[in-house]
Amino acid sequence: MTVGRAERRGAPTMDARSMGTSVRRIEGPDKVTGTAAYAGDTPAADALVLHPVQATVARGEITAIDTAAAQALPGVVAVLTHHDAPTLGDTGDPEHRVLQGTTIHHRGQFVAAVLAEHPEVAAEAARLVVVTVDEAPSTTAFDPDGESYVPSALGNGQPPDSTVGDPDAALAAAPVVMRAEYSTPMEHHNPMEPHATTATWFDDRVEVYEASQGADLARQTLATLFDTEVVVHAQHVGGGFGTKGFLHAGSVLTVLAARAVPGRPVRFALGRRQMFETVGYRPVTVQRMALGAEPDGRIDALVHDVIGATARYKEFVEPAGGSSRSMYAAPHRRTSHRAVPLDLDAPTYMRAPGEAPGSFGLECAMDELAVALDLDPIELRVRNEPSVHPENGLPFSSRGLVECLRSGAERFGWSTWERAPRRRLVDGWWHGVGVGAGTFPAFRMPGSTAEITFTGGRYVVAIGAADIGQGARTVLTQIAADALGVDVASIAVEIGSTEVPVGSIAGGSAGTASWGSTVVEAADRFRDKYGDAPDDGDHADAATPDNPWAEEYAMAAYCAQFAEVAVHADTGEIRVPRLLGVFGVGRILNPALARSQLQGGLVWGLSMALHEESVVDPRFGGVVNHDFAGYHVAANADVRDVEVAWIDEDDPYVNPMGAKGIGEIGIVGVAAAIANAAYHATGVRVRSLPITCDDFLTSGLL
Ligand code: MOS
Repeated sequence: MTVGRAERRGAPTMDARSMGTSVRRIEGPDKVTGTAAYAGDTPAADALVLHPVQATVARGEITAIDTAAAQALPGVVAVLTHHDAPTLGDTGDPEHRVLQGTTIHHRGQFVAAVLAEHPEVAAEAARLVVVTVDEAPSTTAFDPDGESYVPSALGNGQPPDSTVGDPDAALAAAPVVMRAEYSTPMEHHNPMEPHATTATWFDDRVEVYEASQGADLARQTLATLFDTEVVVHAQHVGGGFGTKGFLHAGSVLTVLAARAVPGRPVRFALGRRQMFETVGYRPVTVQRMALGAEPDGRIDALVHDVIGATARYKEFVEPAGGSSRSMYAAPHRRTSHRAVPLDLDAPTYMRAPGEAPGSFGLECAMDELAVALDLDPIELRVRNEPSVHPENGLPFSSRGLVECLRSGAERFGWSTWERAPRRRLVDGWWHGVGVGAGTFPAFRMPGSTAEITFTGGRYVVAIGAADIGQGARTVLTQIAADALGVDVASIAVEIGSTEVPVGSIAGGSAGTASWGSTVVEAADRFRDKYGDAPDDGDHADAATPDNPWAEEYAMAAYCAQFAEVAVHADTGEIRVPRLLGVFGVGRILNPALARSQLQGGLVWGLSMALHEESVVDPRFGGVVNHDFAGYHVAANADVRDVEVAWIDEDDPYVNPMGAKGIGEIGIVGVAAAIANAAYHATGVRVRSLPITCDDFLTSGLL
């Protein structure tokens, strides 16, 4: 039994026997032996291959499409254009209006598709389709001072502006003021598995294998568009990162094409280049920070004004100022967001949308304030730790930030470094250390159902969860085992399909919290009905229960990220010999899986800090470095020591398991820690990602 605070407050977390142990990933053997089928390689006899025709301008109207040459190519089965596409139902998402008209909203937009027996034929036929376009003027270059507007809401549904007190007056009166502008570039999701769809249209339904973070949401979308019964399978997904949360145009195009060839599977796996053209990205941000403080470090005013890119045809605004609403105490505060509309593919959710880029601005600004105050940056953060949520006044269900900072400092050897920058030159490399902190909300999505059936001596637990590599299948097995009071061997979890009860998406770091709470509720009902000696066929189900504490506590995960950086004194080359992330994320349900997921977040944070940047050429309106040669994602040679640790945290309010989400917080604060370490190493302050040799070479300081 979890004792102490949890019991005293009457909201104990549940007993753990399997939870907290590193149960092996259930589908591991299937994956390493190559028998786990993904959407793009699931067996489908006689599948036709789809190859799209894509817009070559950023904006315009199609005036003619000539498909004759493509149709005439042997092996071509069909060529689809807006002339013959059916009218689709309205999901409210402009990305879903595939082949519904003549308007081109962005370069790379799908304007036609070829179905053929072989991929080479399909590609050649797509090349033969002649699309005549009346090109219109477009804007694809981001200018923070150009046309912009205040959006109605941010990507996470929060309001764009939040002001407490009078931040401008407080800044004017503050003894110490730090103002600076930070920027983060456009970045693209690059899961190992690209988006892929295999779809077959039958008389009474369409059956779809989809690379998706949520089979049921995909089903709902397709059912609305095509007004038919839809079955979606997503047993194994090779990474999501947000891009697979919602269906994009390629999935719709594939189902639309399948409708043209009833009974025959149609397959479309995006090429890596198409991953840079049609499935979203993290949009560019410019963040204007202002911090006003007392000489002892207490912050009087905190301002985080964000200007970010969105698409003209579909709004998505990165909530980069969001975490500045809860990280630090300050009586006067403002966060604001403006959106710059561009003629590009629409941005979307990407691992820690808001927190990942926003923590770069906030946490670098905190470091600069610490320098201005001649105060240790950890101490500055501790002095501004809020006792309640600084904007809504709620107490925190648990908040491990200070403990993460302190235990991380200890583990990292923080106190062995002089605070002044540019003091350690070893073998021609300037070394320094930096810290960045972060948060990510802990919440529960409604709308899942879990079903438990006792059969053949095992409990079959069915819920439409998605395993996108994080280990949902395994962790839900552990949760079910503990909730039912049995061994994991007695549990068989069925997920990843609309043929099991509905599940919410693997998103918002809320998968385990949402599905797990639902499984626990179903298990409680099962035991209430049948006790611990059930008969074959005994059955119980439950919907996701509301969290009774959701309105009474502010709930979030916290982290402290530490980096050691080395910058070459002659070339400006930057390396990261050490990274450490310390996390306050409630109960860790499976240490091996958690470590792997958090470590992946840290590695991506390094990649964000040093490598990733999608470059738009405004003459053509598209991303020019659309492959792994031009867009570098951190690989083994870029990564040295990456250590993950967590504090003991018992949070009885988040859910019965006491677990906060860990999917996204791993990346939060890492880029700031690296930029702050680079300053400490060299005295050069880099405020724009990614950090490159040029930043040091042009500084005049090397
Ligand atoms: Mo995540 S970016 O909520 O899929």
